[in-house]
Amino acid sequence: MELDGNANRLSAKRLMGKVAVITGGARGIGAATARLFAENGAHVVIADILDELGSSLADSIGCRYIHCDVAKEDDVESAVQLALTWKGQLDIMFNNAGIGGTGGSITNQDMDKTKVLFAINVNGMIHGIKHAARAMIMGRKGGSIICTSSSAANMGGLASHAYSSSKAAVLGIMRSTACELGEHGIRVNCVSPHGVPTEMLVNAYRKFLGRMDVTPEEVTTIVGEKGSLLTRESSKHGRCDASGDVSS
Ligand SMILES: NC(=O)c1ccc[n+]([C@@H]2O[C@H](COP(=O)([O-])OP(=O)(O)OC[C@H]3O[C@@H](n4cnc5c(N)ncnc54)[C@H](O)[C@@H]3O)[C@@H](O)[C@H]2O)c1
Repeated sequence: MELDGNANRLSAKRLMGKVAVITGGARGIGAATARLFAENGAHVVIADILDELGSSLADSIGCRYIHCDVAKEDDVESAVQLALTWKGQLDIMFNNAGIGGTGGSITNQDMDKTKVLFAINVNGMIHGIKHAARAMIMGRKGGSIICTSSSAANMGGLASHAYSSSKAAVLGIMRSTACELGEHGIRVNCVSPHGVPTEMLVNAYRKFLGRMDVTPEEVTTIVGEKGSLLTRESSKHGRCDASGDVSS
């Protein structure tokens, strides 16, 4: 098959020689990104708390793994340091690690669990942006910082209150830091996935549907058919399945 010019451009190794840190890179969206980055010629540091999965993925794609709990600033700093000592630079920071929250009414919000979630989903992002920015400013070559937010940041009713608000905070941190870091040639952006059938989402469905046999394929079908993450039933738990439910 003939490739047109555009396809040729896309198939070239677009990240040749770039150095990236990916938090939450042991599985799911982070692992897929690590594979794609490596295929495109990047040197990747996978930073996660799932040591076995993370190291075996790193070995299989010629990358490095470091144990890193993003809630701990020192761990994130060490992940960035590993990139610097390994390859002498940091070009891309993908702040992707995150956890889902427990649902339920705001009237029963568990504040201990909320603090844990914010420590990972919000502080983890700040740690990543802070230490990546330091390294990139010192490197004087700019860079790209990408944070994983969520469609739940923009649309109410898709996820738990704690999760939704943590992901909205990520958008705020991204906008705020992008303004400061632009003058150093450092871009700060977010990606906001919606309905990717990873462990996180499949487990959420298992909980909501009360069935442990829910498969990623089933989740893909539900999300594809409804264009939505959860069922009307789940609205009783502080979530809903359509904008109509939100506005009614
Ligand atoms: N799957 C979706 O539909 C969806 C939608 C919107 C946003 N997201 C976001 O995408 C990101 C990746 O999630 P995923 O869907 O791949 O789920 P996942 O559970 O498969 O992956 C999350 C990864 O983050 C790691 N992690 C969790 N806590 C950590 C911590 N304290 N320190 C370091 N690593 C930690 C996990 O070990 C795991 O490897 C998350 O930020 C999530 O909120 C996912």
